[in-house]
This record gives sequence, structure tokens and C-alpha cells, in this order.
Amino acid sequence: MRAIDIIRQKRDGAALSDEAVRFFIDRYTAGEIPDYQAAAWLMAVYLRGMDERETSALTCALADSGAQLDFSFLGRTVVDKHSTGGVGDKTTLVLLPLLASAGVTLAKMSGRGLGHTGGTIDKLSCIPGFRTELARDEFARQVAETGLAITGQSPDMVPADGKLYALRDVTATVDSIPLIAASVMSKKIAAGAKGLLLDVKVGSGAFMRSLSDAAALAALMVSIGKSLGRRTVALVTAMEQPLGQAVGNHLEVIEALQALRGEGAADLRDLCLHLGAEMLLLADKERDFAAARHRLTSLLADGTALQAMRRFIAGQGGDARIVDDPDRLGVPRAKGELLANSDGYLTRLDARAAGDAAMALGAGRKRKGDAVDLLAGIRLYKKCGDAVSRGELLAELFSSGPETIAPAAALLETAYAFGDSAPQAGPLVLERVV
Ligand code: URA
Repeated sequence: MRAIDIIRQKRDGAALSDEAVRFFIDRYTAGEIPDYQAAAWLMAVYLRGMDERETSALTCALADSGAQLDFSFLGRTVVDKHSTGGVGDKTTLVLLPLLASAGVTLAKMSGRGLGHTGGTIDKLSCIPGFRTELARDEFARQVAETGLAITGQSPDMVPADGKLYALRDVTATVDSIPLIAASVMSKKIAAGAKGLLLDVKVGSGAFMRSLSDAAALAALMVSIGKSLGRRTVALVTAMEQPLGQAVGNHLEVIEALQALRGEGAADLRDLCLHLGAEMLLLADKERDFAAARHRLTSLLADGTALQAMRRFIAGQGGDARIVDDPDRLGVPRAKGELLANSDGYLTRLDARAAGDAAMALGAGRKRKGDAVDLLAGIRLYKKCGDAVSRGELLAELFSSGPETIAPAAALLETAYAFGDSAPQAGPLVLERVV
């Protein structure tokens, strides 16, 4: 078998055999296939696609490129969730402690933010002392002892995805349904959870721009998950405007803490309760969706979820005092304001433009490895449908350096559109795929 023949087959639209897919991934991981051939192959896959069998073979080859975790010795259903990436998406920070407080066992491997989308590991890095890189046995021990652990992608797990993702990022091959499905599912399979909830984002701030593409991605991932023995449910959820009121790492931690108190933005709370109820069902802790949602609402209201957050932070070495004193996360030195320039109703708050503005403040990275300003971000005071008067505060912008504020504010301004009447609010959860 030769790499050039596999590239040619895919270029010409053939379906690759399982052996060919595995050969390509194994040799690429070992450094025997160079980046220029892998780049050509990725573009061929991007343009020609892959059927479900090929995507499943790619998922397994990626997952097998490194170590895999197995929690079956715990005798409990370990569950995990994954979002395909959005703007202001801090649901993991709310959901995991909330579910841990309901007795669910959770093992999550998370990524750093890339491009205009944020990542859980960057958000957790804001917490003084918090250890985001747990060794494999430490991660497994933390899950066994406390029922909840989150760690960054370790270099010995799914190394092929790490290499390929970096290459996709610079070859315009990220937004491909089979490549995203295999990338996401390989990490979920390697991380060892038996129940998976996938939050597939659709809209301007997501990789998938159309509902039909998002539904196709969701269906493909659910099918692969099930075929590999995982209980898998996917929800397609809206990402036209940022989720909640905060975009940027330390602001999102503060907003997650508010949500864990049962307070804060209605859309964030609603999505967390919806995703959380699905996860309670996946973990066999409840049979009925409404009862699951009700139970989670009570855990937010009575402080149990917040207490689980304190335990989780302390368990991974972090300063749990940030829960009651968020200034311990740091206070940004520079601040700016964006004011409304007309009266009316907010008809659009484009998630992509808001994400780009947060990046311009320093909250994100263009390339893997770039430094991030953890205190940079945006607080949104108006969301779609809100009435606005000229001169009213739309958003505050924060960063560690004043020079980023004006260019970011100019970008953020492009996110907004106003009209004479409030647009009809659409649902947050658009489809459920099982
Ligand atoms: N998230 C991933 O883990 N992989 C992708 O390809 C896209 C989003």
C-alpha cells in the first residue's frame, strides 16, 4: 500500500477500505507520511466526502493511535458530553458539577479554544492553582474517588487527531462533516465514557451553518457512537447569538458560577437544564425527562450544585474561594463600552462577529499554542428581542491591554442589527437525534 494511491483513490471519489484508512493514519502518526501528503488527502476527503463505514474506520484508527481509558472497573455508567464549539458556550462548567451533585459519574477530556470558539480548558485555567493537565492514572483516580474530573487532551491520547487537527486548521479542511465526526468521536471513544451527549451547534457562531448539515453531523456521530457500543444522544442547538451574557474565559467562569446558583441568563440556564436532563437519562439516574429537569432545578436552587463545584475545583488543586469571591480570578486592567446608536429592538447579535471581537481583545488564539489573555472578554447587556434606546449600554469589553479595546469594539458593532419590532424567539434545542 502506498500513500499516493490512497490519495488518488479518494481524489477520484472511491470509498477507501478500512485497511487503507488505518494504513494512512498509522503511517501519518508514525511520521512516515509527510504533512504534504496528509494535506492532499484531507482536501480529497473534504471535497469527495466519506461514507459512514469509512468515517467509522477513521474514528477507530484515530482512537487507536494512542492510549484509551476504560472505567468499566467502577461498575457505574460514566457519561461525557461534547459540544462542537460555539461562542459563550460555558455549559460544561455548569453541567458537570450539577450532574455530579445528582450522583452521576463524569470523565471529560476537553480542549483549548481555537479560532472564534472558546474551550473549557482555557476557562478552567483562570482558576488559580487549578490543574488542567492530569496524568492518565491521576485522571482515572479522580473520577473513581470524586465522580468528576476534567483534563486537557493528553499527548498520549488520540495523537493522530492532534496532528491532523492542526493540519486541517491551516488547510481549510475543518468544516467537513466526516472529518469533524471522526475527530470528535475518536476522542470520546478514547476517553472511555459509555454514555455520550453531543451538543451539535448550528448557526453563524458554529462550524455547521445550516440545520440540514448539523442534523447530518449529529446523525452520523450518533450512529458511529452506537456502533461502537456507546449510548449516544445528540441535540442540535442554536448558535446564532452567543450563549448567555459572557464571552471570554474569566467572564464565562463568573457566569457559570451564577448559573450554578440558579441565577443569570435564561438561555444558558435553559440549555443546561435540557442537556443535563438528557445526561441524567443516559446515566440511568432518571427515567422521565420532566422529572430529571425538576431534580436538576432543585439542585441549583438549594446550593448542592454550587457545593459540588467547590469540591471539584479543590479536587483539582484550584482555589475554591473563587466561588464566593470571583475577583480572585483577576480583574482586567482595560475596559470599554459599546452604546446603542439607534432606538428599536435588537434583531441580530451575530455570534461569529462577537467571537471575532473577543478574539481581537485577546481571548482566543489563531494558532494552537498562541498565548491567551484570560481576562479578556465581552459582557453582553442586550440579547435578540430586547428593546434598546439610543445611547444605552449594549456591551462592556475587557482586556489586559487598552490597545485592543477600540478595534474589538469596532468588530463587535458589526454584530448588531436593530428593527422596529422584536423578532420571534426561536427554540434553543432544534432537533434531538437518537
Ligand atoms: N471539535 C473537534 O474536536 N474536532 C473537530 O473537527 C471540530 C470540532
